[in-house]
Formats: sequence, C-alpha cells, structure tokens
Amino acid sequence: MDEPLIICDNLVKIYKVATLEVVALQGLDLVVKRGELLGVVGASGSGKSTLMNILGGLDRPSAGRVWVDGYDLLKLSDFALDRYRRAKVGFVWQQGARNLVPYLNALENVMLPMTLAGQSGRQPRRRAQELLSTVGLAERQRHYLQQMSGGEQQRVAIAVALANNPSLLLADEPTGEVDSVTALAIYETFQELTQHYGLTTIIVSHDPDIAYHVHRVVAIRDGRTSSETVRQPAAVSTPADGEAPSVAGVAAEAPRFEELVVVDSAGRLQVPKEYLQRLAIKGRVRLELREGEIAIQPVQSATEAHEAEKLAAELATTPQARGRRDVAELFRRWRPSGRRRS
Ligand SMILES: Nc1ncnc2c1ncn2[C@@H]1O[C@H](COP(=O)(O)OP(=O)(O)O)[C@@H](O)[C@H]1O
Ligand SMILES: [Mg+2]
Repeated sequence: MDEPLIICDNLVKIYKVATLEVVALQGLDLVVKRGELLGVVGASGSGKSTLMNILGGLDRPSAGRVWVDGYDLLKLSDFALDRYRRAKVGFVWQQGARNLVPYLNALENVMLPMTLAGQSGRQPRRRAQELLSTVGLAERQRHYLQQMSGGEQQRVAIAVALANNPSLLLADEPTGEVDSVTALAIYETFQELTQHYGLTTIIVSHDPDIAYHVHRVVAIRDGRTSSETVRQPAAVSTPADGEAPSVAGVAAEAPRFEELVVVDSAGRLQVPKEYLQRLAIKGRVRLELREGEIAIQPVQSATEAHEAEKLAAELATTPQARGRRDVAELFRRWRPSGRRRS
C-alpha cells in the first residue's frame, strides 16, 4: 500500500484560447499511494478536472512530470497514451448520462468496454453481471438509463468504469447531482470497490464532508495542492480502574481530522486567504524562525507607512482632534486641585 501509484512533480497545464493563456495547473505536486482512496476538493476553476484529465490520459501536461503505475505520461506516444487510458483507467463523470449509452441496458453498458477491447464469448457477460452485483444492481441488469434513478445510473457508471479491470478509478464530482443519502451510498460503493479490487481511487468533490468517506483529502487552490486533511489516529483512551477497555466505545468515537498545509519542493506554501485578509497582508511578509516554529508577520510598505503617518498628522489638526486635546489638557489641570479638595 505504501508504494506510490501516482507521482505528479511540478505539473503545469496551460490552455491557449486564441491569444489568451489560462494556467490551469501551476506546479502541482501530488503523490498517491497504491490502494488509496483520495478526495480532491477545491473551488470551481481551481484545476481539479484538468488534473483528472491528465491522470486519465485524456490530456497532456504542458510541463512537469507525471507517472502513473510506472508509465511516464509525458513520454507516451499518442497511441500508447490511448492504450494506457483504455487499459489502466476507469472514469466516472458527474452526469450519469455522460457515462452511459441510453439505448443499451445496464448489462450491455457494462459489457461495451470489454467488447470494444476485443473480448468475446461468455467472459464479458459474466464479468458484467459480477460487477453489477458488486455495485448492488444485480436486479437491474435489463434496465435502461431512463428507468433508473441518478444514484443507480452512477452505480452502473462505476461498473462500466471497472469493466476493463483498471488500476486507477477517477471520479469527477460523481455525487454532484444526487441527494446526500444517495451520495453516501455512492461513497460506500467506492470504498468497497477500492478494497475489493485493490484499486486506487480519486474522487473530486464539492462535498465538505468528503473527509469522512476517504482516506485523505487534498485541496487544490489556483492549480496547486494547497492543503491536506488527514484522519487523526483514534485517541487511545485509558479505561478507568477496573473498567474493561471498550472496543465499541472506540468505534463510536467521531473521527478527528487535521488540515495540513502543503509545502512544495521549492518551499512554497499557500496561506489561507482569510488569514491574509485578517492581517491585511499583501505583497511581502516578515518571516521569523522561532523555537520550533516559523512566524509570518505583516510588514507595512514604505508608502503604507507614509500614508499612515500622513493620516495621523491630518487627524491631529482637525477641530475634533484639537477639541480632544483641549479637553485632555483641561482634565490634567483640573485633576490635581480635585484631589486636593477631597
Ligand atoms: N479545454 C480548456 N480550454 C481552455 N481553458 C480551460 C479548459 N479546461 C479548463 N480550462 C480552464 O482551466 C482552469 C481550471 O479548470 P478545471 O480544471 O476545469 O477546474 P475545476 O475542475 O477545478 O473546476 C479554469 O480557469 C478553466 O476555465
Ligand atoms: Mg471540474
């Protein structure tokens, strides 16, 4: 499980639209272990789908390195990339309709990738039946797209994605169009399959609760991995005297999560926007190495300091400010005599 299946090193993707360049990935680093169930979150436009398309061999990066299951995706010829995509990767998209052929029933949909890959005889049908029962749809083999709910369509889509026995399963917002109960069932399907077939699975999601359903969550911001949320090991509770340690008690305990900021190979990290806004940090900061920590402090630029001084000087000459000074002066003069009187 510890051997990486995916390594992205300083991955860059630039889209050119007419004269405009869009930097969708700007030096993204990511390592995904074999057998891992990974969640990817991030604002719309942060580069999540771009990353999935590159990992799935649907698109090529502009620069950087990316290996999946020993394949250097930058070095593969178009033909080899095509073969990689069909043999190694399963895709599940957000819309059930994009995943399935409407005039084929569930079983035929799952058999299709195997037929396209040149398999014939009984094997494709048997595997398709097995996959449909694994996703809990053994009874729905003869149903068509429009006869199934959104959640069922997505489960057929997962079975289709697994038809060719891929090592990597990529799901781009698979729960984006279903309710939360259905989403939960879909997450459970991903968990079971990842374990059962020894898959490595990446789920892109908008769901803030995704951390409860995966091993690790990586957040992408502006085309880079910015933070990771990992499940904290369960706290070891020491039972009170005479009390037996309760296994059920540990299991019932809510998982705890910790969000860690990613520092890339060049030492760059992304400070959350709220933090920057709260301290009005712009442009440059002061870094200070302290005992066991590094402090980031705001610095005023020369112009900001000048503006602040000017403002203070202006305030000091307004009638209100003069008034306040006069009152303060009166107060100082009055206090001593007041004290003497008491
Ligand atoms: N085919 C494309 N051509 C031009 N720009 C694109 C293309 N695909 C994505 N982009 C741009 O790249 C950025 C990242 O997009 P995307 O990876 O789809 O983000 P996400 O999936 O996180 O919403 C966005 O600014 C998007 O407009
Ligand atoms: Mg997307």
